[in-house]
Amino acid sequence: MPPGAGREEVFYLCQACHSLAIVKQQGLNRESWDETLTWMVEEQEMPEMEPEERTLIVEYLATYYSQKRRR
Ligand code: HEC
Repeated sequence: MPPGAGREEVFYLCQACHSLAIVKQQGLNRESWDETLTWMVEEQEMPEMEPEERTLIVEYLATYYSQKRRR
């Protein structure tokens, strides 16, 4: 994973239940990542994140794993 703010949070949190490959292969925009996190918390029993932590995670994912980057 590319270095950047939020990398460690994504690494440790998201890997707790599934491989990071499932995260890296997505390529979503900011809004969809946000929805994915909500879904993860509400339906997949992921612990709720602190607001600052959540923002950091969404920023990281949207920066490095967005559709734009894939094109
Ligand atoms: C408490 C467990 C748990 C944690 C923590 C967790 N996930 Fe998940 N996640 C799941 C489960 C279970 C699935 C598979 C759901 C299914 O396909 O039925 C999943 C699936 C996914 C998928 C695939 C969605 C799809 O459309 O196929 C993505 C993307 C994802 N998680 C992202 C994340 C990210 C990003 C994080 C960290 C911020 C995270 N997950 C943390 C449980 C978790």
